Amino acid sequence: MSVSVVAPTYREADNIRPLATRIRATMEAARLDWELILTDDDSRDGSEEVALELGRSLPVRFHVRRARPRDLSQSVLDGIRLARFDRLVVLDADLSHPPEQIPELLAALCGDAGMAVGSRYAPGGRIDGAWSRYRTLNSRVATRLTRPLTHCADPLSGFFAVDRRRLPPLDELAPVGFKIGLELMVRGGLRVREVPIRFKARHGGSSKLTWRQQLAFLRHLFRLYRYRFGLPVRLLSFGAVGATGLLVDTAVYLGLQAVGFGHLLARFLSFWPAVTWNWRLNRVLTFDDRPPARAVGQWTRFAFASTVGLATNVGSYAVLTSLVEPFMARPLLALFAGVAVGSAANFAVATRFVYRRRRPAAGSQ
Ligand code: GDD
Ligand code: MN
Repeated sequence: MSVSVVAPTYREADNIRPLATRIRATMEAARLDWELILTDDDSRDGSEEVALELGRSLPVRFHVRRARPRDLSQSVLDGIRLARFDRLVVLDADLSHPPEQIPELLAALCGDAGMAVGSRYAPGGRIDGAWSRYRTLNSRVATRLTRPLTHCADPLSGFFAVDRRRLPPLDELAPVGFKIGLELMVRGGLRVREVPIRFKARHGGSSKLTWRQQLAFLRHLFRLYRYRFGLPVRLLSFGAVGATGLLVDTAVYLGLQAVGFGHLLARFLSFWPAVTWNWRLNRVLTFDDRPPARAVGQWTRFAFASTVGLATNVGSYAVLTSLVEPFMARPLLALFAGVAVGSAANFAVATRFVYRRRRPAAGSQ
């Protein structure tokens, strides 16, 4: 049996040799044919020299990814593409994940299991060494946020085995940041089996889990929720963006009056920065899975959608308060109803005409 081991690296020069040595010992004992692919984000810390040196006597390959920003998930995807074998194991290069457990992971990758995860949180799993209380809590909260997406107890583990033949087309994946395993299990719809592991807090080098990575994680989660739950998530996002737009609208409206503009003119002017704000946020968040479009044209279409929304909003307010009995005595209720109907109209136009879906490829219907 053969296996390609993929380890993403960023400044792990000191860890590469012990990693390769331990993998080798494990593979020889288990009589597995193997290769180790280090997918490096152009560390320039001597990693390449160490890897090339190792490569003279061991099946160690070193792949440098130069695209920026650097990204762990994209590096792993590169590794998966480059692998010689279909059975793959992904692990961190900082020796947090015990290579000795690779054979166990591979054994769990059988039958209907499309993925085997080295799990810290399955019964029998553990974390050795000094993890700060902050880091522990952080990991727990992040894991909890994945509950609606998967049954796996440790879906954020970076230690897992998959069979490449069961993966979805890699180009259809859209991970950002660290959680490529979560991406594969959710978008690949893979059945997961968990293998308890002893995770070791890293000793050499430093963790790359910055606040930037944590933001990337939230963004990644949003994409997966949208993938899984569709319209409700998009609506929520659109609504949340709209709420922030209202803040912009209000701030500009008040600000302009503070510098001497009349309230009607201020009202007319403040609409535009708010529209621009909403257009931009929806572009990079709510609809970031839609194909890119030229900014100016898209902005214009969005402004149109917002105008439709505003007209529907005010129009339904007028109709409700003048014609519909329960609302006649409750204008505030009519205002809320108007906002709801107007936002729905705004959304309907936006999703259809502003952030357009990809056209089906020519000839394919
Ligand atoms: N190519 C590449 N590009 N590799 C990276 C990058 C990057 O931008 N950032 C980090 N890495 C590599 C590191 O060199 C290491 O081998 C591995 O990815 C994990 O990075 P760490 O900096 O050690 O992150 P961590 O310990 O906080 O988190 C990791 O372990 C967790 C527990 O298994 C990640 O793999 C998490 O996904 C995982 O949950
Ligand atoms: Mn680590």
